[in-house]
Amino acid sequence: MSSPPRLPHLLGLEGLDAPRIEELLERSRLFLPAAVGHAPPPGHHAHRMVANLFFEDSTRTRSSFARAAMLLGAKVVDLLESGSSASKGETLLDTALNLQAMGFDALVVRTAASGGPHLLAAHLRKPIVSAGDGRHEHPTQGLLDLLTLQKALNSLQGRVVAIVGDIANSRVARSDIHGLTALGADVVLVGPPTLVPAALRSIADGPGRVWIEHDLDRVLGEVDALITLRVQMERAAGTGLAGDFRAMYGLNTFRAGRMKPHAVIMHPGPMNRGQEIESLVADDPTRSVILQQVTHGVAVRMAVLDALLAS
Ligand code: NCD
Repeated sequence: MSSPPRLPHLLGLEGLDAPRIEELLERSRLFLPAAVGHAPPPGHHAHRMVANLFFEDSTRTRSSFARAAMLLGAKVVDLLESGSSASKGETLLDTALNLQAMGFDALVVRTAASGGPHLLAAHLRKPIVSAGDGRHEHPTQGLLDLLTLQKALNSLQGRVVAIVGDIANSRVARSDIHGLTALGADVVLVGPPTLVPAALRSIADGPGRVWIEHDLDRVLGEVDALITLRVQMERAAGTGLAGDFRAMYGLNTFRAGRMKPHAVIMHPGPMNRGQEIESLVADDPTRSVILQQVTHGVAVRMAVLDALLAS
């Protein structure tokens, strides 16, 4: 397979074609042994420094980007909103321009505003990696979900993946939709009409198809994988909806038992146990690949940083 041209930034999976995505996934597979400590860290970016700019809370994404950079040999500086001059009114762009002026080699950026990383990419020379922007995209989560699904199901061509819950507010769902359909999987979006707007049916251009279903129980037996999402209360979604949501869309053992024997269950985290997913399902070693997703996140972030730092 000949490599696609160099990627200047990673802002989203929208617009990335199958060869580009496969190239990043292949690179991630190569890094997986080092990501889990079964091979020595490659360490070949020892002279590089990455700034982690997290202007919204994070556990997995922030720490796995840091681990990924360090396994590549790079040094990492972490900057949060509180404790940085953002709390004194400095803009995101000014903050980033200052980090570029100091000589950082790449910026990993999470913002509450959709489009934050795009703004920086338009003004900076250094590579920008989105670590999630508002409701828009979370491309490395999309890639780690693809890697996890490929490991569980082999080819994604013709597979059916359900994404369940607060799709409207989910950057994970958007990146998953673009990535899955690019690799030929079909996606069914499941949730109440308020959280699954009809317009989402046409956000991706295939080859996989996207459709919407409001009744989770109708699709359970048809899917090869189910990605469940929490309701994003901090984005004012679903206030007062908790009980009804759990009854209609919560993944419990009864529902999991109706899925195909090989079908896997995923969640990007953070989980609200007992809400969108029951503990017995989340911790079921025969179906849940939730912690594998987290492990794959390190390898994917190594692959993305390696690709962007390679120039
Ligand atoms: C998600 C995020 O922040 O977008 N978490 C993650 O990065 N793994 C999902 C969420 O917050 O619900």
